[in-house]
Amino acid sequence: MILKSRRILLGVTGSIAAYKSCELVRTLQKKGAQVRVCMTPSAKEFVGDITFRALTEDEVLSSWKDGKTGLEHIHWARWADCFVIAPASANTIAKIASGIADNFLNSVALAYGKQIVIAPAMNTKMYLSYQTQENIKKLEKWGNIIVKPEEGELACGEEGEGKLAHPEDIATAVMYALFPKYLKGRKILVTAGATREFFDPIRYISNASSGQMGYSLAKIAYALGGDVTLITAPTCLRKPYGVKTVDVVSAEDMYDAVMENLPDADVVIMNAAVADFRPESYSEEKLKKDKESNIIKLVQNPDILREIGKRKKENQVVIGFAAESTDIIQNATDKLKRKNLDFIVVNKLDVFSRDTHKGWIIDRKGDITEIPEMDKESSAFFILEKIFKR
Ligand code: CTP
Repeated sequence: MILKSRRILLGVTGSIAAYKSCELVRTLQKKGAQVRVCMTPSAKEFVGDITFRALTEDEVLSSWKDGKTGLEHIHWARWADCFVIAPASANTIAKIASGIADNFLNSVALAYGKQIVIAPAMNTKMYLSYQTQENIKKLEKWGNIIVKPEEGELACGEEGEGKLAHPEDIATAVMYALFPKYLKGRKILVTAGATREFFDPIRYISNASSGQMGYSLAKIAYALGGDVTLITAPTCLRKPYGVKTVDVVSAEDMYDAVMENLPDADVVIMNAAVADFRPESYSEEKLKKDKESNIIKLVQNPDILREIGKRKKENQVVIGFAAESTDIIQNATDKLKRKNLDFIVVNKLDVFSRDTHKGWIIDRKGDITEIPEMDKESSAFFILEKIFKR
């Protein structure tokens, strides 16, 4: 699990979004983290500390009177690998920006001494006020990570910016705070998903790839400091936080988008399951089963990765993927050579639409690294660390 043995201290403040912190605790725990919670006194007006005690199976502090030594703000700050405040109210943001330590949570913030992940949530006018914006700018300038709120309908009935960011996005910011920056300063181009090759307005040829591995690669590449662009065929997945995404549908669309982004890329990770064939013709009208001959003639799609291999510049790193059913290592090695790749990640067909991944990384020299079975985010980390850790 990607956050295994990481100690995360979650600070909950007085915002109606405090109930969403329960979901954030679970999201972080599912990634393997050990989570502890501290709260401001007003946060307890929104969610009882017993909820967090039950979720974390640990004590929850909102003041020193529940502790033993009076030094818990120092001990908890030292304990945490990452301190994340979600939701962060305008009041807490203002206090932290001014160094005020008048409750347990903001005393931990002052004693923490490392970058804090701060996810604001409040009414739009409060969020956009000069005061809050200045405070946020100040906190960012000091190296803290601000997870911007989303736009939408707020608890107060108004529409606008102020909704607490999604738990997955906050978890990604936590990973960004924790992970080494192996990809700092590099532009990373990732492709993901199964392309769709339409032959009438509602029918298409595609394949069983869920896109999960490509999305995990994009997310982890961001958390490792990369400047990531994800070119994605349609999927049911949430767009990864911190990543620029470009939506495409067919192999030809993906080809165009990749070629447009290729010259700037330092690293290309071609994970998409591109349809090798497309229907020769497209009907504007829905095909009728009683009228047509029902034979769909196929023509070959461009091989995007082969073209990348041809255009590859000297210091570009190109990583291909392959799913093989027989002669796995041999077929993948042939593909690496044929497409002029630096690395190929190969797996058996059984990882399709599964939550876990396992396989092998092969490099140009023929060295092989086995990837043990693990969830796809952890596998993405394993692959990127193996290739880019220096
Ligand atoms: N790929 C691509 N364009 C295609 C097909 C595949 O860029 N039209 C990329 C995939 O994203 C993947 C790699 O090529 O990174 C391997 O895909 P695969 O279909 O297994 O390769 P092929 O050369 O088509 O091999 P096969 O003979 O097994 O079909």
